[in-house]
Amino acid sequence: MSAPPLPACTLRCPAKINLTLRVLGVRADGLHELESLVAQIDLCDELSITPQEDGRYWFDCDDPTLPDDGSNLVLQAARALARAAGINRGADFVLKKRIPAGAGLGGGSSDAAATLRALNTLWGLNLPNERLHALAATLGSDVPLFLGPPLCVIRGRGEIVEPVEPRLDAWCVLALPGIHCATPAVYRAWDRLASNRASAESPAPTAGKPLSPALSDVLAVLDHPSELMTRLANDLEPAAFTVAPELETLHARAADIAGGPVRMSGSGSALFRLVGSRAQAEALAGRLRDALGVRVEVARTLNSPRA
Ligand code: C5P
Repeated sequence: MSAPPLPACTLRCPAKINLTLRVLGVRADGLHELESLVAQIDLCDELSITPQEDGRYWFDCDDPTLPDDGSNLVLQAARALARAAGINRGADFVLKKRIPAGAGLGGGSSDAAATLRALNTLWGLNLPNERLHALAATLGSDVPLFLGPPLCVIRGRGEIVEPVEPRLDAWCVLALPGIHCATPAVYRAWDRLASNRASAESPAPTAGKPLSPALSDVLAVLDHPSELMTRLANDLEPAAFTVAPELETLHARAADIAGGPVRMSGSGSALFRLVGSRAQAEALAGRLRDALGVRVEVARTLNSPRA
């Protein structure tokens, strides 16, 4: 008699936005020391996973521009987990992409984190969170944060994930210009710009460091989206604008239309503005769509259930 099929599951993999992103310096390995307040939002990819008993993987994605070979982060995550657990299992994956790639929204990282978490259960491994977290960090700087709470501060190269107390309950209007910002190119541009400034310090990463005054100021106004927007900053914006000059123009026009600041997420190219209600979000989304002619989405910030 053959073994009963393993259970399958379908997961929603949320995007993230970097509310703040400070680049604190360059490390000896060339990566950058960060401090970033990150919020997950309900713009989600959908990933279906059917575990297989053999060591075979199958991957299908509705976005033909993404790699469907072993370089895809979903497959990398599955293989890394199987290796770490010393097992020879497989899985079928069907990925429906809604989070654009190269937008600074962490779509691939979120898919990878969901894969780790789901296969840990579906394969019956029950590896502790710390092991999953360490594996996530080997896959990419943004993968660990998706194993954490929906609002967190990340430090180091991104692998130190600290929950923050207050909740952020807001609507997010995203302008998605379809410009593919390659993260390494944006960081290289930051290096070039930094070498024109005073030499950048490279402080050692520390978990549990007190929040910087700028970050405390941001957390103090999470309930007031328009005030909050004036306190957000992303150090990678000038760098991304040298890599994709058309993004700077779009950024300025979006702020003009919004009547207040918009910010870039991560290394770009997604631009966002937070507002307090769905009605405000839909109204702004309509204006941005009409004026900019780019894809515009409305999403809500995610929150852990109240204790
Ligand atoms: O870790 P991840 O694969 O997302 O990083 C992609 C690239 O982005 C790195 O190879 C590096 O060029 C740059 N990066 C960086 N500092 C970070 C994160 C990413 O320089 N903290």
